[in-house]
Amino acid sequence: MNATGLAAVVLAAGKGTRMKSERPKVQHELAGRPMLHYPVDQALNLGCRPTVLVTGHGTDEVRTSLQDRQVAFALQEQQLGTGHALLSARRSLEGFSGDLLLLCGDVPLLRGETLEQLLALHRAEQAAATVLTAKLENPRGYGRILRDGDEVLGIIEEKDATEAQRGLCEVNTGIYIFTAPRVFEILAELGCDNAQGEYYLTDVLAALRREGLRVRALMLEDSSEAMGINSRVQLAEAAAILRRRINEKWMLAGVTLIDPATTYIDEGVEIGPDTVIHPGVSLWGASRIGRDCLIEPGVTVDGCELGDGVHLKSGSVLEGSRIGSHSDIGPMAHLRPGTVLVGHNKIGNFVETKKATIGEGSKASHLTYIGDAELGARVNIGCGTITCNYDGVNKHRTVIEDGVFVGSDTQFIAPVRIGRNSVIGAGSTITKDVPAHSLALSRSPQKIIENWTLRKKKSRDKE
Ligand code: UD1
Ligand code: CA
Repeated sequence: MNATGLAAVVLAAGKGTRMKSERPKVQHELAGRPMLHYPVDQALNLGCRPTVLVTGHGTDEVRTSLQDRQVAFALQEQQLGTGHALLSARRSLEGFSGDLLLLCGDVPLLRGETLEQLLALHRAEQAAATVLTAKLENPRGYGRILRDGDEVLGIIEEKDATEAQRGLCEVNTGIYIFTAPRVFEILAELGCDNAQGEYYLTDVLAALRREGLRVRALMLEDSSEAMGINSRVQLAEAAAILRRRINEKWMLAGVTLIDPATTYIDEGVEIGPDTVIHPGVSLWGASRIGRDCLIEPGVTVDGCELGDGVHLKSGSVLEGSRIGSHSDIGPMAHLRPGTVLVGHNKIGNFVETKKATIGEGSKASHLTYIGDAELGARVNIGCGTITCNYDGVNKHRTVIEDGVFVGSDTQFIAPVRIGRNSVIGAGSTITKDVPAHSLALSRSPQKIIENWTLRKKKSRDKE
């Protein structure tokens, strides 16, 4: 039924008490994604079909977060141990025969290459099970690997181990490849006669050995890959490791990071070469940054697409926007969702845009709000211009055609349309459409009262 003969089970039923959280542990995020997405995506990338997720605590939230991935779900109602957890996936794997990768939802740092190596070893050795191990200076709390050379004899849990066994520092990472359906037959026969009264997945290895089958181990070169997350302290440690990896990847791809320690790039972001990123920058979501961009300190970009040669000045926040090449933005600009800059635009300090398309070469250099608007090419928006888009009930659009010059301190009372090449005099409140090539002006005439302050002064002096 399965061409590659490879499937996966990801265990994620545990409660994660030490997170002190209302949310399921595996939903906490690293580099912008729930930790669970990392092992699930590794399994899918490796070609595991099906990939079965075992849930227990917070099942609904976990399922919702994976709804756009090809994942099957199994429920482990009571958490009776890792062996019981894998057995809960048995029905989801009915009819599958082949190699079964077992991952943990709270171990997000494993590299794809490591899993490929594990699978290659398992297949080359024709093993019945292969376990991923790590050598730790402080192995406390982990199951210890019992070996005879290359042959793995079994795994002993810390709580069941003798003093001598506790001295071993090669540990079980909790990641394995088994052979299905054999592993399920063995699991079904397992007891829970141990210090914790749990069904131990680790007991499968010794059982396979007793049948004269081969059990192998692959030891990690970089033990941090197997780091499991149980607390928010470990979450931050793992996030820092992941951040370093992501940042190194981009630096090696030609992106300059002035200070990688304070650069926060989500998994899934893309950046073109020769882009320079200053400290304190956050690039979130599925953002795509072109080449030769300059991103100054303290900028946040969330789910945006930037062309080439874009310059984002300090403190700007861009969300859900598309920025054409060679645009200049900020400092302190706020581009909200639905902003489209066509290219060669200038958006200056304290300018806010929302649901606005701004044509080629158009500028709004200072202190402006442009919302629910469509601007043509070469439009100049003067300082302090406001599209008054909201009448308290509905939102209305402002359309400003090519080449319009808007004087400072103008308000557009939407809905309103300004024809091409028109000029709006500074200080105007525009309530009616303006035809092309016109001047529109709405100011009260200026009044002058000569010598007014002199007279004022005299009357004050009398008092
Ligand atoms: C297990 C291993 C131990 C290994 C360690 C690595 C066993 C018996 N021991 O320890 O050798 O060093 O992992 O971290 O397997 N889970 C469920 N349902 C359950 C129990 C656990 O889904 O009933 C999931 C947890 O959510 C977690 C994973 O399995 O993702 C491991 O569980 P955890 O309790 O952390 O591992 P231990 O059993 O202590
Ligand atoms: Ca446990």
